[in-house]
Amino acid sequence: MRIGVIGAGQLGGTLATWCAESGHEVAVTSRHPERLREQVDRMNGKLRVMSIAQAASFGEMVIFAPNWSGAREAIDLTRSALEGKVVLDATNPADGAPSLGAFTGAFGGGGFSGASVKSAEAVAAAVNGPPSEAADRMLSRAGGKSGLETLIEWAPGAHWAKAFNTISTDVLSRRRGHDPLLAEFVCTDERDAREAACQIIRDLGFAPFYAGGAKAARLTETGGPLQSREVDVQDATDALADALAGLR
Ligand SMILES: NC(=O)c1ccc[n+]([C@@H]2O[C@H](COP(=O)([O-])OP(=O)(O)OC[C@H]3O[C@@H](n4cnc5c(N)ncnc54)[C@H](OP(=O)(O)O)[C@@H]3O)[C@@H](O)[C@H]2O)c1
Repeated sequence: MRIGVIGAGQLGGTLATWCAESGHEVAVTSRHPERLREQVDRMNGKLRVMSIAQAASFGEMVIFAPNWSGAREAIDLTRSALEGKVVLDATNPADGAPSLGAFTGAFGGGGFSGASVKSAEAVAAAVNGPPSEAADRMLSRAGGKSGLETLIEWAPGAHWAKAFNTISTDVLSRRRGHDPLLAEFVCTDERDAREAACQIIRDLGFAPFYAGGAKAARLTETGGPLQSREVDVQDATDALADALAGLR
């Protein structure tokens, strides 16, 4: 598949290299293309550098990994090219790589007292989808918006999914392709985006795990309970249940 990677920094550059190693044709972007020369040369033509707009057009799928502070500008340059395409959002709506202990209880104060968020219905809905309404309903009562929901507002024609945003590249590199496989949480409301995200996650040596829709992405982003959680795939259901329970 042709993949455009917008923002080839620590995360985007790593994912781009792994996608190219997995046999995909990959275009990376930088406003300083000379900094990517060594990385591109090492990949023997499987990786090329393009402008942000060109990479968005080139990709049948796009991985979106700029700094959050540059996200709006990157969207403004690519909105029409992203129309109708699956876009995997790997950002966090605050800059910096995920670090341990990031959960700050940012969901507090939303009035969850009436809901038993650990209910079987909620967890099953969040995990199994397609509808993640139960989990999303509870999250919406916590107020606020996920970074993914913000991106959907900025580029509503793209088919967005959240993935690759919870774990640092150090941990991803250490765990890639090793048993037990590391769970990669996926949040999306679009079936094609969910399928594409799951496929790429498998191609790169991880285990996709559906955590809910765009609203549920808050669970995985900066300040959320799944941020920086290194979870083996067999423990992912429990991790998601704990994350939802923490919203009470
Ligand atoms: N690093 C990790 O381990 C990790 C893990 C999970 C999630 N994340 C998330 O991934 C995102 C990027 O983090 P990072 O650590 O990879 O950052 P980084 O190494 O600083 O790289 C950021 C990239 O964003 C690009 N960028 C900045 N402003 C831009 C703009 N206005 N338009 C287009 N591109 C722009 C930069 O491109 P130029 O070369 O043109 O400056 C650079 O390639 C963050 O949201 C972070 O939370 C990071």
